[in-house]
Amino acid sequence: MKKSILATAADTALPDKTFLDLLAFNEKMAELGRISAGIIHEVNTPLCVIISAAQLVLQEEGMPEAALELVERIHLEAQRLSQMTRGILTFARPDSDSSGETDICQTVHEVVTLINYESGKRSVRVIEEYEDHIPSLPSGGSRLKQVVLNLAMNALQAMEEGGELTLSCSPDVAGGAVIRISDTGPGIPPEIVELIFDPFYTTKREGEGTGLGLFVSRNLVEELHGSLTVQSLPGTGSRFTITFPQPAL
Ligand SMILES: Nc1ncnc2c1ncn2[C@@H]1O[C@H](COP(=O)(O)OP(=O)(O)OP(=O)(O)O)[C@@H](O)[C@H]1O
Ligand SMILES: [Mg+2]
Repeated sequence: MKKSILATAADTALPDKTFLDLLAFNEKMAELGRISAGIIHEVNTPLCVIISAAQLVLQEEGMPEAALELVERIHLEAQRLSQMTRGILTFARPDSDSSGETDICQTVHEVVTLINYESGKRSVRVIEEYEDHIPSLPSGGSRLKQVVLNLAMNALQAMEEGGELTLSCSPDVAGGAVIRISDTGPGIPPEIVELIFDPFYTTKREGEGTGLGLFVSRNLVEELHGSLTVQSLPGTGSRFTITFPQPAL
C-alpha cells in the first residue's frame, strides 16, 4: 500500500514534503468528513421531530393568526435546514458517485442551493443559465458537485462588496458540455494566474484558505476526462470553464 503511494508521489513530480503534507491534509479532511456526517445525522433527528410537531400545531383549530404565522415560519425554516443537512450528507458520502448518470444542470443547481446563505450574506446576485440539450456525465456527480462548489465559493470569497455570480451550462458544437462559473470580482493578476492551480498556493489569510481548492478541482475534473481553465481580467472579474469533450460523455 505504502509503495504505491510513494510511486504516485514520484509520478506527480511533487516535492516529497508537499506530497506528504497533501496526504496528511487529505486524511484530516476524510476524518472531518466522517465526524461531520455523524453530527449532521444526529441533528436531523430532532429536526424531524420539530417538523412534525409544527405540522400538528398547524392543524389545530382556533389558533390565533399571529401564532399560526410563527409556527409556519418554524415549519419552513426547519424544513429548509433538513433539506440542507440531507444535501450535505449526500455530498459527504464517499464514492457515492462511482456510477450513475449525472444531470449536469441539476448538479450545478444543487450547488446554488448550498451557497444560498453565503451569497446572501455577501449581497451577491446568483444567476443560473441552463441551455437545452446538454449531454449527461456517465458518472461522477459528487466530484462535479465538489468542483462547482469550490469554484463558486472562490468566486463569492473574491466578491467582498457584492456582485454577480453566473453559473451556466451549455452544449458545445462537438457534442460536449461546458460549465462556466463567472464572477464580477477583482479578477486575478496575470502574474499569479499560472500559480493558482498549484497545491497550497493561496492569497488568503492564514486560516482562511489552504490553497488546495483549485488543485483538487482540476484533478477531479481530469479524473472525469474533462478540463478546467480560467480567464480573468483584473478589475472586471474571472471566469472558470469546465469542459467535458464528447468522448468523456
Ligand atoms: N474567482 C476568483 N477571483 C479571484 N481570485 C481567485 C478566484 N478563484 C481563485 N482565486 C485565487 O486563487 C487562489 C487559489 O485558490 P484555491 O481555491 O486553490 O485556494 P483558496 O481558495 O485560497 O483556499 P481553499 O480553496 O483551500 O479554501 C486564491 O487564494 C485566490 O487568490
Ligand atoms: Mg478555494
